[in-house]
Amino acid sequence: MENKRATWGSTFGFLMAAVGSAVGLGNIWGFPYKMGANGGFAFLLIYLALAVFVGFVAMVAELALGRKTGKGVIATYQTLSKKFSWIGWMGALSPFLIMTFYSVLGGHCLKYMVVNLGDLFGAGFGSAGMNGTDVFVSMITNQGEAILYTGLFMVLTCVIVMGGIKGGIEKFTSVAMPALFVMLCIVIVRSVTLPGAVEGIKFMFAPNFKPLQENFMSVLATAGGQMFFSLSLGMGAMITYGSYLDKKENLEKNALLVVISDTLVALMAGLAVLPAAFALGGEGAAMSGPKLLFVTLQDVFAAMGPIGPLFGFVFYTLVFIAAITSAISLVEVITAHFLDKAAEKGKEGSRGKYTIIACVAIMALAAVVAADGLGSNGLPQPMGFCWLDFMDLWSEGIMMPLGVMLMAFCIGYEIKLSTVKNEIEQGGNKFATEKFFTVCIKFVVPIAMVLILAGQIDTFFGLGLFG
Ligand code: TRP
Repeated sequence: MENKRATWGSTFGFLMAAVGSAVGLGNIWGFPYKMGANGGFAFLLIYLALAVFVGFVAMVAELALGRKTGKGVIATYQTLSKKFSWIGWMGALSPFLIMTFYSVLGGHCLKYMVVNLGDLFGAGFGSAGMNGTDVFVSMITNQGEAILYTGLFMVLTCVIVMGGIKGGIEKFTSVAMPALFVMLCIVIVRSVTLPGAVEGIKFMFAPNFKPLQENFMSVLATAGGQMFFSLSLGMGAMITYGSYLDKKENLEKNALLVVISDTLVALMAGLAVLPAAFALGGEGAAMSGPKLLFVTLQDVFAAMGPIGPLFGFVFYTLVFIAAITSAISLVEVITAHFLDKAAEKGKEGSRGKYTIIACVAIMALAAVVAADGLGSNGLPQPMGFCWLDFMDLWSEGIMMPLGVMLMAFCIGYEIKLSTVKNEIEQGGNKFATEKFFTVCIKFVVPIAMVLILAGQIDTFFGLGLFG
């Protein structure tokens, strides 16, 4: 069966797909608002440290494990160690849960593209003079429409994944990611040249350690959760993408490139969003939390005059691209698992069929999340959370940090580091960061993960453990 497994067409293709997976709503929606709400520079500092000592190491590890076994996440852990095989199941369940709200947000992006297009041409489907809050509220309370846009996003994702590794995923991301980059540059130029934008730039880069003294655990947990989510770690995505990599590829170099690009795009998204928010609404706007992207920024674009909707359209298009290239990787984790299963039984398996089943199942739950409208439509609320937060709590808040922690234990203490070393040294590559990797995976990653997990649980349940 081994020789039948798909592979990437080129290194560039793999990189665009992996960067496409990493760069998503996490970067463009999550990073700026979390940075805004968690002290700007202080958050950035912790984030960067975590990306180097935990993110890069986990990325190398996931790519290595995936390429070693040549399988999806469940089969990978089954192959490596009986004791740890259930991590694989968790690794396949989290993308499913993430997709149930990711697709709703992706649908919101589509809706905002339409709204800004409407405003651009003065058409009836524009914002009709409503402010950002009203545009947002009218969108999430219109349940039918929210479900429809979510469905549209799911269909587009489904079609690309059905196209396969080379013909679908790689082909789409190789065009979409460079386009995203260009669009982001355009929006940044506009954002940082607005009068008053300087304050936002200072907020991001001028050293300020106060938030760390006041709230260290919560800044650490937020930055940590954000880092995993943003780098697509802690579940099957990078293991799965790694499994399609050629043995000649240098895993460390590729991991480094993905981490650097993802961090760069998060910073660029910060520059596109925060200075504009400062310029048009002051610090309060920058700290507005999850609605920053959909409420505050819509006001920012509206305040730019007749040209505003054009920037709005370009911006929400790029957010949409970021979202769909990530959604693809989330669905691929599930599809790959079914393909592995079929291969085990000696059958070829139908990518199309598996992808459709996965997408329909996701859509069933996503419809609930969409209909819930962040808790504003009177649906019963699980454990007192709105449905979106509930899905996010389990996947991003708990299962992902747990996944990375267990993976570090599994590599550091169960399967022997030489397994990873041998894989990295395939094709004559040198394991350049071996010492760094060893110390990090045995000690730094587990300790950081325990702290992050504790902080996440504390924040989500409002326990107040850390003051
Ligand atoms: N990294 C993506 C983002 O920042 C989300 C994502 C895609 C993801 N695939 C993943 C998160 C796999 C965790 C695991 O939006």
